[in-house]
Amino acid sequence: MKLNVAILPGDGVGPEVTTEAEKVLNLVVDRFGHKLDTSTGLIGGSAIDETGTALPDNTLDICRNSDAILFGAVGGPKWDSAPGNIRPEDGILAIRKELGLFANIRPVKAYSALTHASPLKEDRLSGVDMVIVRELTGGLYFAEPKKRWEDESGKQAVDTLLYSENEIFRIMKVAFELATTRKLKVTSVDKFNVLETGRLWREVANEVSSDYPNIELEHMLVDNAAMQLVRAPANFDVIVSENTFGDILSDEASVLTGSMGMLPSASLSGPIGDSNTSNTASLYEPIHGSAPDIQGKDIANPIASILSLAMMLRYSFGLYDEADAIELAVQTTLESKYRTPDLATDNSIVVSTSEMGAQIADRINKYK
Ligand code: IPM
Ligand code: MN
Repeated sequence: MKLNVAILPGDGVGPEVTTEAEKVLNLVVDRFGHKLDTSTGLIGGSAIDETGTALPDNTLDICRNSDAILFGAVGGPKWDSAPGNIRPEDGILAIRKELGLFANIRPVKAYSALTHASPLKEDRLSGVDMVIVRELTGGLYFAEPKKRWEDESGKQAVDTLLYSENEIFRIMKVAFELATTRKLKVTSVDKFNVLETGRLWREVANEVSSDYPNIELEHMLVDNAAMQLVRAPANFDVIVSENTFGDILSDEASVLTGSMGMLPSASLSGPIGDSNTSNTASLYEPIHGSAPDIQGKDIANPIASILSLAMMLRYSFGLYDEADAIELAVQTTLESKYRTPDLATDNSIVVSTSEMGAQIADRINKYK
């Protein structure tokens, strides 16, 4: 198979972790007899520096002409006060919107080799295996008005929490379809008791649920969900939520796995499985950000990026054996006690970003 992949390393540790995923991609392509064509594009702060915009047209063209996109991270203190309110984050937000990538799939799996690396009690973590389905192109992130102004009462700012029935419907479909392949349970998260959007969210969840009689639908208020995620995380299977709640809950959930550096994600324009027939490229990225404080030190954890690559091979290309090989290599590398500093505990072998990539690649070599 010929894989046509856009690579957008971005800022901070983005380039470092993406390099390791690329290393693994090249190896897998070679071992399994595929062909690879990659194009690299600028995005975020580094794109602002070179072109004055966070998402240059050329980058968007590269993405439109690819089958899938591997994205690193954007942002950093250098651009916090960029002129004209241009922000590195606008780059990734614009790609999501332009390509219609409304469904963000964030699997949260606690590897048994890592349960002691989490600050939570080990007995809470056994059996943790959930997927957060986050709505990605609506809500507070995008709706208008979104602005700042000043009047007689001083400075003011507004963001708008708007959802249409259609936007909620399509993300619910993604969640329910996913649930049919898992434990037949969907937890829909909202703020029904306060927000109008929360009430519409719940109404549409109930409507969609009537098409899936085998799937149990549970509604949960977002504040309670935040608590249950650390109190009894193994009770969750598929969680579906609006954009901002999903952003917050997924960072929280990453603690269950031991580190932010473990969680991959896929951003799709429809239900999983439909994406390999869709004309739009899906985007794969670690959920962690650019981590400017550790940039350039070769200590960032590349596993989230490497696992995002596995999701790409599975969802965009239907390459299941290849994806399984990567995930197994990650698991056995962890079982062999190799850890980047974010996961280090007493008896672990602490390695750099590039050494972690090499250990994982080495194991793929051994299996295949
Ligand atoms: C994420 C990130 C982004 C988001 C930022 C970088 C805009 O935190 O992918 O979770 O908030 O969506
Ligand atoms: Mn986030």
